Amino acid sequence: MRASYSFVVFLGAAPMPIAAMFYYPNVAVSTLEHILVDNWGAYASNFSSAITPCDNYVTEVGQPAINSRRTTSAQWLRVAFHDFANADVAAGTGGLDASIGFETARAENSGTAFNDSFTFWKPFVSEFVPMADLLAIGTVMSVHLCGGKYIPYKPGRVDATTADPKTGVPEPGTSVEETLAQFEKTGFNQHDAIALTACGHTIGSVHAGGFPEVVEQSAITPNNTNGASNFDDTRAVFDPAVVHEYIDNMGARGGALVTSFNESSRSDLRLYESDGNKTMLELYAQGNEFQDTCVDLLSRMLNTVPSGVKLQPEIAPSLIKPINVTWDVTSDGQLTLSGKIRMLYAGEVSKDPVSITFSNSHTEIMAPEDNLGTSAFKLNDSQTNATTQYLPFSIPSAKLSGASSFAIAAKGFEIQSFPIQDKAFIIPSLTRFADGTVSITVAARTDRDDFDPSQIFVKVSTPVAQPLTLAPKVVRTDVQLGKGESPLEDIDYWSGSVSIESPTGAVSVTLLSGEDVIDTLLLDAGVAGW
Ligand code: HEM
Ligand SMILES: *[C@@H]1O[C@H](CO)[C@@H](O)[C@H](O)[C@H]1NC(C)=O
Ligand SMILES: *[C@@H]1O[C@H](CO)[C@@H](O)[C@H](O)[C@H]1NC(C)=O
Ligand SMILES: *[C@@H]1O[C@H](CO)[C@@H](O)[C@H](O)[C@H]1NC(C)=O
Ligand SMILES: *[C@@H]1O[C@H](CO)[C@@H](O)[C@H](O)[C@H]1NC(C)=O
Ligand SMILES: *[C@@H]1O[C@H](CO)[C@@H](O)[C@H](O)[C@H]1NC(C)=O
Ligand SMILES: *[C@@H]1O[C@H](CO)[C@@H](O)[C@H](O)[C@H]1NC(C)=O
Ligand SMILES: *[C@@H]1O[C@H](CO)[C@@H](O)[C@H](O)[C@H]1NC(C)=O
Ligand SMILES: *[C@@H]1O[C@H](CO)[C@@H](O)[C@H](O)[C@H]1NC(C)=O
Repeated sequence: MRASYSFVVFLGAAPMPIAAMFYYPNVAVSTLEHILVDNWGAYASNFSSAITPCDNYVTEVGQPAINSRRTTSAQWLRVAFHDFANADVAAGTGGLDASIGFETARAENSGTAFNDSFTFWKPFVSEFVPMADLLAIGTVMSVHLCGGKYIPYKPGRVDATTADPKTGVPEPGTSVEETLAQFEKTGFNQHDAIALTACGHTIGSVHAGGFPEVVEQSAITPNNTNGASNFDDTRAVFDPAVVHEYIDNMGARGGALVTSFNESSRSDLRLYESDGNKTMLELYAQGNEFQDTCVDLLSRMLNTVPSGVKLQPEIAPSLIKPINVTWDVTSDGQLTLSGKIRMLYAGEVSKDPVSITFSNSHTEIMAPEDNLGTSAFKLNDSQTNATTQYLPFSIPSAKLSGASSFAIAAKGFEIQSFPIQDKAFIIPSLTRFADGTVSITVAARTDRDDFDPSQIFVKVSTPVAQPLTLAPKVVRTDVQLGKGESPLEDIDYWSGSVSIESPTGAVSVTLLSGEDVIDTLLLDAGVAGW
């Protein structure tokens, strides 16, 4: 127990960046929505950077990355398929659960894609964001940013704690009977299996380095260091080219798994021909509707989860989104509510004013920041990418007495209201992670009939490395709080600290009163460039 909190900490090593406490509608949805929507420009999520441009290989930099001819966007899609492929829907096992992280030594999971992807995703994992949800969002992002459509994204997956004992990812040498039997176990019939494979094999390559049984070693050259043989002539574009080139006998003619020097390794040819090319001809005739077929099948793939896991509702882009909204206490002892409102415009930003009005009637017009962001979403059938604009506010508590919500209004938007509370909160400027220790100070009101500050407690959840997989596990620690000195009237300070294992990503601090979560603060959330 630490009874008093020392301000000396301010003088130590630079504190880690802090994200704030009010998350709408909750931490998981707010953070994942950020990945989905904030793609480029102001406050972009760093997630999109790995696949911008779409032929980027994030694991290497500069010329080696270019010469590698590896494709991160394609790797992400392949990783999701391999995680899914040993699902047994009748038994209710497998599917998207990140168990693939434990299974990289299996011959059926040959290649660098799995650990390459997990290495990039790892810092994004937290108490609220499991690796399995990132695995799914990886496919959604690759397809959406690289020429395909948006696959409606549902969060709520749960990470496996061990390898899936079942195997069965098809390989280039697997017979078509066995391949179809395996797809059947995942709930995909012959037609679905062919179409899903065509959807997958429209981006990326088969690499001679890793698949010498498919691609000749002569493909390896100084400017193609892994000997990539592309599935179609548009390696990093999610389009129907692979289908067209296969049927029309042009370009890459369906890719190395169709044309391999080694007949036994022509798994795509065997699969595509297994119904006499019927499905491939259908996909060919679909033209751009191919994209809808892929959305449908990939969505089924991503939403295949072990029985007992319940996915949450689809995440839709928020047109009005409060970000980093938090109470804090300034160095001169002022209690202030600050944050930003992100407006998402279908096209150009509007010059119309945006107002914030609290439930106690206090109202202000907000001034926008200059820097705009760009989203891959196209809203309201607009042909252009949506634009984000950020409007900051900072308001002393004296003006907000009694306020329990604020409403944002702007022309062309439906007015939206967001709850706030101030009975107790984690104080961001007095809470930090440094030198292996999380130090926390909480403010709790003493003048509320409906709130007993002695009932509050704090837990800390830390993502940490675990053996055999690059997916972190999350460790929970309870924190003892002791009463400290408060500069504020009718508010007590409670402080405590706890040492934690080295975190791989954002550490979350949660303030509870009985069963109720009353505040959450993410520490160190900057690691991934969230
Ligand atoms: C019969 C089933 C399948 C077999 C035998 C198969 C086999 C392969 C092989 C051998 C590679 C080359 C990997 C490398 O060289 O790094 C590959 C790449 C790929 N596969 Fe499949 N695959 C199958 C189905 C699928 C499905 C259903 C999807 C997704 C829905 C998919 C997505 C991908 C992607 C995106 C790549 C490119 C990866 C990269 O460029 O790094 N595959 N596949
Ligand atoms: C929210 O806070 C985080 C952490 O301090 C910061 O990285 C991010 O840029 C902030 N977002 C906005 C929109 O200001
Ligand atoms: C041909 O492919 C089969 C199946 O993938 C493999 O077992 C065999 O070793 C390959 N042969 C050559 C010469 O690469
Ligand atoms: C790659 O190198 C080969 C020779 O090894 C050369 O023929 C080819 O033009 C080069 N391609 C590119 C894109 O630089
Ligand atoms: C299927 O299509 C491929 C590519 O156009 C062609 O080579 C093959 O002969 C066709 N197979 C059948 C059974 O029609
Ligand atoms: C709009 O989004 C697409 C992907 O959907 C992207 O390729 C393009 O670069 C974006 N445009 C701008 C101006 O950022
Ligand atoms: C989209 O259109 C609807 C009705 O046409 C309108 O109410 C809404 O504000 C528009 N949304 C955006 C983001 O422009
Ligand atoms: C992937 O990473 C895990 C965890 O570090 C490791 O155990 C495994 O051997 C790696 N797999 C490959 C193929 O390098
Ligand atoms: C963002 O991602 C890029 C790779 O795309 C990486 O080089 C960079 O370090 C990341 N930024 C942060 C702040 O983590």
